[in-house]
Amino acid sequence: MLQNKKKSFRSCLVPEIIFRLLKMPDNAVSRGERTPWMKFRRCLWYLVALIMVGTLVIYSSVFQVSWSLNPRTTTPNSSNPQNSVPPLVDRYTVAYPHEYHFILDEPNRCREESPFLVLMIPVEPHNREARHIIRSTWGNVTTVQGKVVSHYFILGQSREENGAQTIEEQLLRESRDHGDILQSDFLDSYHNLTIKTMLMFEWLSTHCPQTSYAMKVDTDTFLNVHNLVGMLLKAPQHLYITGNVIRFASVLRDQNSKWFMPFSTFPESVYPPYAIGLGYVFSLDLTRKILEAAQHIRALYIEDVYVGLCMRHLGIPVTDPPRGDMFRIWMPSNTGNCYWTSVITTLLHSSNQLLDVWKSYQTQAQSGC
Ligand SMILES: *[C@@H]1O[C@H](CO)[C@@H](O)[C@H](O)[C@H]1NC(C)=O
Ligand SMILES: *[C@@H]1O[C@H](CO)[C@@H](O)[C@H](O)[C@H]1NC(C)=O
Ligand SMILES: *[C@@H]1O[C@H](CO)[C@@H](O)[C@H](O)[C@H]1NC(C)=O
Repeated sequence: MLQNKKKSFRSCLVPEIIFRLLKMPDNAVSRGERTPWMKFRRCLWYLVALIMVGTLVIYSSVFQVSWSLNPRTTTPNSSNPQNSVPPLVDRYTVAYPHEYHFILDEPNRCREESPFLVLMIPVEPHNREARHIIRSTWGNVTTVQGKVVSHYFILGQSREENGAQTIEEQLLRESRDHGDILQSDFLDSYHNLTIKTMLMFEWLSTHCPQTSYAMKVDTDTFLNVHNLVGMLLKAPQHLYITGNVIRFASVLRDQNSKWFMPFSTFPESVYPPYAIGLGYVFSLDLTRKILEAAQHIRALYIEDVYVGLCMRHLGIPVTDPPRGDMFRIWMPSNTGNCYWTSVITTLLHSSNQLLDVWKSYQTQAQSGC
């Protein structure tokens, strides 16, 4: 109440003062004189007009930028074709689009096997143990209801100081033994995950012409491949993406946050809907669309958010799964009661935990859950 009174008082007072200052003295007008007072008044008019125009300009530019992340307004290079964005790299964007090359590849396998579903697993080059665990758990599920499922690990290169030479030799051996390694020539780091994700879309779009769906799934995740295939057999077949869908996520402006994003890189305050990165599933026809969209949007380092931005650009919705509890971010304290046979994904504490969880899952499956 008090605040209201104060406000109305002030809003009356301010125009009143300006009005008095600007009001022409009657006698001056009638005599047509150019007094110093009139000059002062003219200056004041210019000043007021200048402030008004300036405010309008600033307001409209801020307004425009915050409604759509229009890359054209943030790109300094104006000689670029109207719609394409150069990979302007700051700390919060990555070097994409850019031509990267696969140095370990499976150029024909996907075409030959024509899997219904491909599991794409981002992993660090050195993390051989995680790959091993996945190959012996959900990565070893190769057919479900007569549908072929296959998996690939996708990774970049390690830094020299991390023993890149030895890691390369190990990877080459793994690639020969298992035929599931896709390694590209970008520097593998947390910051570069968006590059990895985009290369995943590139690889799928050119190597898997007969494949219906793919899933991006992290190594520290439990995956129930049977339930996933079951869901996909009833899912939309085109331009479909689902997972744990996050809506109205705030853009984090705290510099200490793991997902800090400066205003200058992304001025909006809320991200568009996106499927959380630990596991999302999509129809193969979406890969090309996302790659097209990526030509127009600066590649933010937060990969799942970036895919969400591409989806918004395409005007294609991110779909919720048929049941809200299929893609879990937290493992409940009680995982008895047929928990593992009822979900599709659950984020674990580490990929080591997966070995135990997989045993529980198998026990539950065998006990008729
Ligand atoms: C703008 O981009 C084009 C290529 O897209 C490049 O040839 C040119 O040098 C760039 N100009 C500036 C000022 O960066
Ligand atoms: C994969 O499963 C088959 C049985 O379906 C089993 O014989 C094989 O040992 C498993 N592979 C791994 C790496 O666990
Ligand atoms: C990301 O990858 C690019 C290409 O390999 C590299 O130049 C850049 O240093 C990497 N960035 C980080 C933070 O690892």
